Amino acid sequence: MAAPIECKAAVAYGYNQPLSIEMITVAPPEAGEVRIKIVATSLCHSDAHFVWREMPKDAYPYVLGHEAAGIVESVGEGVTSVKPGDKVVPCFLCQCGDCRYCKDPRTNLCEQFPEEIGYFDTYATGHSSRITLKDGNQARQFIGTSTFSEYTVIPEIQVAKVRDDAPLETVCLLSCGIPTGYGAAVNVAKVQAGSTCAVWGLGTIGLAAVMGCKARGAKTIFGVDINPDKEAKARELGITEFLNPLDYDKPIQEVIKEKTDGGLDYAIECIGAAKCVEAALESVRRGIGLAVVVGLAESKLTLSVDNFLMGKTLHGCYYGGYKSRDSIPKLVDEFMAGNLNLDAFISHRMDIDDINKAFDLLKAGTSYRSVMTFGK
Ligand SMILES: NC(=O)c1ccc[n+]([C@@H]2O[C@H](COP(=O)([O-])OP(=O)(O)OC[C@H]3O[C@@H](n4cnc5c(N)ncnc54)[C@H](O)[C@@H]3O)[C@@H](O)[C@H]2O)c1
Ligand SMILES: [Zn+2]
Ligand SMILES: [Zn+2]
Repeated sequence: MAAPIECKAAVAYGYNQPLSIEMITVAPPEAGEVRIKIVATSLCHSDAHFVWREMPKDAYPYVLGHEAAGIVESVGEGVTSVKPGDKVVPCFLCQCGDCRYCKDPRTNLCEQFPEEIGYFDTYATGHSSRITLKDGNQARQFIGTSTFSEYTVIPEIQVAKVRDDAPLETVCLLSCGIPTGYGAAVNVAKVQAGSTCAVWGLGTIGLAAVMGCKARGAKTIFGVDINPDKEAKARELGITEFLNPLDYDKPIQEVIKEKTDGGLDYAIECIGAAKCVEAALESVRRGIGLAVVVGLAESKLTLSVDNFLMGKTLHGCYYGGYKSRDSIPKLVDEFMAGNLNLDAFISHRMDIDDINKAFDLLKAGTSYRSVMTFGK
């Protein structure tokens, strides 16, 4: 029987407060759970929402982090898909394999994934957190993962086994950011060759969407961002024109409609702000245009849209439409074969002790992914 492990973690204690690096205790895995030694974890904007967005006081303390890769340390009773020593990637979106959604090729939203974005803890088992703080209180486990910790316990249905030669310090990006954006273009929008696309928000998620539009042969890819410093990298990854809404005295949707003779085929919104979702929807062509919402900046979107939507489609998505545990090993193969660029997204590498610097860089708009390891 595995014993509790004492290790280092970054704990979020409240709204806008720096994370605290401290020792925590991680319980042994129970039935259907896996304890993982996290080798590398990167900061996604979704983690930051839970620090920068005002949350009820009882939301904290939290151990955030969901984009990571590691090695199985021990497994609970009944776990068959992984064993100690296996390299794995945690999946914030579970795949139980048995529910009506997992069996339906049209969706990746396993029935065990909660409907409301609220407090996740270990949602897939209904258990409380496996993480105890030094004061004896439990910390919440973010989306059942909590990868800003040297060890964590995750349900088996949220763990994807990857090949032994996968470099964990890079494939951690497959845990969320790259498949989320790339899949929004290739799986959800199913961008067609020769089409006209626009991507709102040129952070990691948006850039991965740009890469997906390009891979599908889009002819025109507009990149929309209010930060002019995002243009260069976006051009490198495939945008054909950069649009900064602040440079125009009319709404960006009007500018796009003029440039495209009536509208886009596809718009992919990677910010999650109501105004940007409206702009994306207004930018697509009537009758056939598709707008995909990926961003999560606002947890509830209050939209003002034309009635009947003029025949357009508005589509939400999580994790780029990929069924997580099935897809991650294949995405690792694509990366290892040189067909999927992950390195372009790693702007910083640092020790977990410097995690507050990673938050500062993301807020300043000067980073893409900061990959952290547990070296010190
Ligand atoms: N649906 C999912 O499965 C999923 C998964 C991961 C992340 N996300 C969400 O995707 C979003 C992007 O994440 P990221 O890690 O790429 O963040 P990021 O901070 O790196 O990128 C966001 C970009 O949006 C730009 N931006 C912000 N407000 C804007 C505005 N009003 N108009 C134009 N541009 C604007 C910023 O300048 C920045 O370049 C976040 O909301 C995150 O929570 C969703
Ligand atoms: Zn994420
Ligand atoms: Zn399922």
